[in-house]
Amino acid sequence: MANIALFSIWAFVFSLNFGATYCYFSIPLKIYPGKYNFTTEANLSSDRVVALKSDGEGLSLASDPSGTVNFLDMVNNLQGDSGRGYYIEMSIGTPGQKLNILVDTGSSNFAVAAAPHPFITSYFNTALSSTFQSTGRSVGVRYTQGNWEGVLGTDLVSLPKGPNGTIAINIAAIQLSDSFFLPGIDWQGILGLAYPMLARPDSSVEPFFNSVVNQLGIPNMFSLQMCGAGLSDSSAVNPPAGSLIMGGAEPTLYRGSIWYTPIVEEWYYQVEVLKLEVGDQSLNLDCKEYNVDKAIVDSGTTLLRLPINVFNAVVETITRSSQIENFSSGFWDGTKLACWKKDENPMELFPKLSIYLRATNASQSFRITILPQLYIQPIVDAENNLGCFRFGMSPSSSGLVIGATVMEGFYVVFDRSQKKLGFALSSCAVSDGKPLSEIAGPFSAADVAADCSGGVLKEPVLWMISYALVAVCALILIRHRDRGEITDESSLVRHRIK
Ligand SMILES: *[C@@H]1O[C@H](CO)[C@@H](O)[C@H](O)[C@H]1NC(C)=O
Ligand SMILES: *[C@@H]1O[C@H](CO)[C@@H](O)[C@H](O)[C@H]1NC(C)=O
Repeated sequence: MANIALFSIWAFVFSLNFGATYCYFSIPLKIYPGKYNFTTEANLSSDRVVALKSDGEGLSLASDPSGTVNFLDMVNNLQGDSGRGYYIEMSIGTPGQKLNILVDTGSSNFAVAAAPHPFITSYFNTALSSTFQSTGRSVGVRYTQGNWEGVLGTDLVSLPKGPNGTIAINIAAIQLSDSFFLPGIDWQGILGLAYPMLARPDSSVEPFFNSVVNQLGIPNMFSLQMCGAGLSDSSAVNPPAGSLIMGGAEPTLYRGSIWYTPIVEEWYYQVEVLKLEVGDQSLNLDCKEYNVDKAIVDSGTTLLRLPINVFNAVVETITRSSQIENFSSGFWDGTKLACWKKDENPMELFPKLSIYLRATNASQSFRITILPQLYIQPIVDAENNLGCFRFGMSPSSSGLVIGATVMEGFYVVFDRSQKKLGFALSSCAVSDGKPLSEIAGPFSAADVAADCSGGVLKEPVLWMISYALVAVCALILIRHRDRGEITDESSLVRHRIK
């Protein structure tokens, strides 16, 4: 029975994916329990309580102590991991119905399941909420992967581990969906944190965070720490998965300074990528190649997605510089796992990856670097004597997406009031006391074009909002393959070093 169930899930997930070019297998990445051996330069005692009131420019001091928002109360308010998404608990309607909601910076609708679905355990019952009001207007969103359709309404929402207060918000009650709820997920709705321009059916549907800022008066910014950083073994029972801090940045969640890049245009969180380096080697592509047709930061995308030319150049450079021979192409396209004996350390074989972003001073850049531990991602429970990994990048025909693979290395500040995104080293992107990410700068941007983003064509009918989680099939993949299919030929077991 169990095998039949597993197989049907597997078959289902496999069938979702365009001609099975690659399998969206999901990784139950466990979370590093958090031995943060770093001293934070910030003064921890004074910055924690920040004014709830915003003067429009940024933070101002609260005169009324009840008007404060305590960032520490929001720390560790997320659960989940990169494969299944990071989600926050919300209380929706009157009386409140508790649901888990995926945090997605790549879309702008707040939508919850309003009908049963095989892959979710609960849903929002609009009939049981005395404050739910349907507008009768139908709405649907198509994502890179999956879509849903429903009806728009309004209701009251509060966040047990968010800013104090009840907010009246637009809510899409999902009636029908396809490939949106995935096997193994533990959330029932999606919180689109991007700009009104992406909201459906049109930008008049005020997004959730806009409503929070307007009604609670918190500063127009939020920050995100996702703690799934590539670690497969954790002894913690319920390790914190991350934090969504609304209204500011919490100093204990990062170290060093925050580097800012301008938001190129307010729809997605679009940024300008100037250069990519694999190890010390620049890919030397025209910088526009990194931004066709856009480059965005998206918490609802599992992998680092790269425009096809860029992806090919990265894979070629990694292959050339890594010490591994006979690297099966199936690893790069995501259809196969790479496995090593448990006592081997494959991370030493792979180079670092750096992304250069335009600094707020346009003639400068800074770079964010991820170590292989972030993009060579462990699959837990594979086989007793083997450690298996997937490749944390994939090719994209809809632009470069800085997804969870990269975001897990950084504390990312979405400073909407100043139209810029900040990156700092995340306090949880640490393994065995060593950081898994680096930030450096400033560098001169004189060697790249003045505008690498140029000419984005925003054709509404072609918009695909970029939520794209890697569905749950990793374990199934392995269990179905380990009796025969993971062999020396078909997988990368027992790699030899050149
Ligand atoms: C909400 O209010 C309570 C009581 O005033 C306070 O202790 C708590 O810190 C507040 N939470 C946040 C997130 O500001
Ligand atoms: C911006 O960067 C350039 C090049 O590094 C530097 O000469 C200039 O002083 C900087 N401008 C500001 C306002 O910091």
